[in-house]
Amino acid sequence: MEIAIDLDKLWAIRSALPGTWGLVPTMGYLHEGHLSLIRRAKAECDHVAVSIFVNPTQFGPSEDLSKYPRDLERDLRLIEPLGVDVVWNPTPEIMYPSGYQTWVEVEALTKPLEGAIRPSHFRGVTTVVAKLFNAVQPHKAYFGQKDAQQAAVICRMTRDLSYPIKIVVCPIVRETDGLAMSSRNKYLEGADRQAALVLSRALTAAKALYDAGERDAEKLRARMKEVIAAEPRAQMQYVSCADYDTLAELETVTGKTLLSMAVMIGKTRLIDNFVLG
Ligand code: PAF
Repeated sequence: MEIAIDLDKLWAIRSALPGTWGLVPTMGYLHEGHLSLIRRAKAECDHVAVSIFVNPTQFGPSEDLSKYPRDLERDLRLIEPLGVDVVWNPTPEIMYPSGYQTWVEVEALTKPLEGAIRPSHFRGVTTVVAKLFNAVQPHKAYFGQKDAQQAAVICRMTRDLSYPIKIVVCPIVRETDGLAMSSRNKYLEGADRQAALVLSRALTAAKALYDAGERDAEKLRARMKEVIAAEPRAQMQYVSCADYDTLAELETVTGKTLLSMAVMIGKTRLIDNFVLG
């Protein structure tokens, strides 16, 4: 496994190895969710690149970039046995050279849900992912369903900009008690860890209504809100029952539907989702 920081080294490694390439973009502090993406890439492609870059442009002014968890040595130890060809760990100066002023922006799909609360977030995500795509030129790129809106936005960007890349969206990996794996779970201590289960509990409660035949989207949203309100440590930011493709809020559930939510547990912001239909 090679480790590249600058673009020249990355390109040298990339161009020396013919065959199909899979890219797994990450911000590091890897967990089993990331490792499942790497294993899938390894199973489907001749070569695999993993990027580790805490992308400053996707953090809002009130979000503490310096507090985002980082541990490169631990990440490399976790990746090493998986047969990855190259880990690309660029510096902010390589990704955003002095005078940087070029952005990639997806419009309507970035406005609701996460975009409504974190207005500049997706511009940072799409810009950095486009730069990762340009640098690695993968045949396939792997993202987690946990960030459902991010996956939808990246699929849209890939189609709109005619990247010849297949986007593979992999299932959420959960702890045995249902908590969706996230690098941010590291911040959940003591009672907050238990309280964080309210997200999967709320989604499960709404899905139970759906499974019993309920198709009124407002009733599904109300059920999620009710479960979250019963957890004193939880502060709901949004709950949504939306069309899977457009992310527009639904009145009636007919086709593929995304139930999603963002909830503050103490100071930790968590998101989770289920797909219906
Ligand atoms: O999902 C993430 O970890 C990040 O948003 C990504 C896709 C690596 C871009 O920085």
